[in-house]
Amino acid sequence: MNCLSPSILAADFKILGEQIRQIDEAGAQYVHIDVMDGIFVPSISFGMPVIKSIRECTERMFDVHLMIEEPIRYINDFVEVGADIITVHAEACKHLDRTIDLIKEKGLLAGVAISPATPVSSIVPVLGKVDMVLIMTVNPGFGGQKLIPYTLDKIRELKKIVDQKGLKVDIEVDGGVTLENVEQVLEAGANVIVAGSAVFNGEADENVRCFLDILNS
Ligand code: DX5
Ligand code: ZN
Repeated sequence: MNCLSPSILAADFKILGEQIRQIDEAGAQYVHIDVMDGIFVPSISFGMPVIKSIRECTERMFDVHLMIEEPIRYINDFVEVGADIITVHAEACKHLDRTIDLIKEKGLLAGVAISPATPVSSIVPVLGKVDMVLIMTVNPGFGGQKLIPYTLDKIRELKKIVDQKGLKVDIEVDGGVTLENVEQVLEAGANVIVAGSAVFNGEADENVRCFLDILNS
């Protein structure tokens, strides 16, 4: 199934709860939550208190994308504030396998993310134990960037490996996805679509419906 995961990084934080209810009611299956630490990526976004408070706004899946160094230190905290999926960057983990194990032990879905210049081959050893792979289509750290074209080849490469191995792993894409290029991203093999600016710039509910029309067609 194809799912939409609007990134709240591009939402209007003055009315964050309202914006989350809007995307929920319009049918978005996930809420994409970008946590940035100012070290793994240049920006700092938000952390546990914000996630805890928006947990009351929706029952939708909280798709937490950790752009932080050594995320293993904080897995318990993200579980406690209501994460459903935790995705860690392969580049940010000294012991990726152990980090994934901890997420799974807590009963959550585990994802592994790779930045544009990180090869797909680097996460093949853990493919059998993750629920999702996040292919970054921009360099992590900021919303509103342009999709880097060569990352589409990485989606195709990963999709081929997943199918060859007969695995059930979701392929998520994140960065610069718009109503204009989402079909290309789906054709390459992705099934979980993150969109920040393309959802929250303008009418979020209307934008979600437009994305879902394409995702469901
Ligand atoms: C980038 C974040 C993305 C970002 C997507 O580091 O991981 O989730 O918010 O925003 P857009 O869709 O605007 O590129
Ligand atoms: Zn993200």
